[in-house]
Amino acid sequence: MNKVYEKLLSCVDSVRKVTDFKPKVAIVLGSGLGNYADDIKIECEIDYHDIEGFPISTVPGHAGKFIFGYVGEVPVVCMKGRVHYYEGYPVSDVVLPTRLMRMLGAEILFLTNASGGINLDFSAGTFMLITDHISCFAPNPLIGPNIDELGTRFPDMSHVYDEDLRDIIKDVAATEGITLKEGVYAQLTGPSFESPAEIRMLGKLGVDAVGMSTVVEAVTANHMGMKICGISCVCNLAAGLSANPLTHEEVQAAANEAAPKFKKLVTEAIKRF
Ligand code: HPA
Repeated sequence: MNKVYEKLLSCVDSVRKVTDFKPKVAIVLGSGLGNYADDIKIECEIDYHDIEGFPISTVPGHAGKFIFGYVGEVPVVCMKGRVHYYEGYPVSDVVLPTRLMRMLGAEILFLTNASGGINLDFSAGTFMLITDHISCFAPNPLIGPNIDELGTRFPDMSHVYDEDLRDIIKDVAATEGITLKEGVYAQLTGPSFESPAEIRMLGKLGVDAVGMSTVVEAVTANHMGMKICGISCVCNLAAGLSANPLTHEEVQAAANEAAPKFKKLVTEAIKRF
């Protein structure tokens, strides 16, 4: 059997030994947004360490566990802590959690992240609904023998970010008085932030916000037929757009400040999914 698929099945087994909970929505929390889990009526938690073969995040601010529970009436699984490519894992490991959550039953993937703003309309604290992405600066997670059990060899990428989910999120933002911009997100590998020249290039390519996650997960979830939505919390102006050097601490501080509104947006949208 395909080694990647074999490992995935063994992770599913590990989880199923602990819980038979079937989530509808899978939520991935970005930097600084980790305390979203406080809003979940928790049924069960599984530490990533307890899932055999599961990649463990090493980034400060990224705890590592799955939280199973309810947001309103909706059964969810929430990844508290995600795995990044820049940590040194093969990309097949980076997307293993996404595949696992799908195998556990999740039909919808709600991606969140912290990003650097390139669109000059954005500032620290702007929320951007992801309308599309640019993936070609990150490795494609589907490279290698296709896992036919999961999806087709050449998946269409025309409608990755589901229109209906986006409409719900926009409605919620309007109702809650939360300003929500829209735009294109690009994933670069990191871990270094981009250079000003790279940011100018990305701006010319139509990128509104840049980060180090999300796209590989979206490509994988799309392969498996999930409905996907994503919101990026712009935590800083991208390199060269402000006089200040970028730091991880600044990103986390901005994400922490935005967290209450962000939680509201995510929670109220999920209740309507
Ligand atoms: N670049 C890449 N990733 C990021 C940034 C950035 O400016 N801010 C937060 N995550």
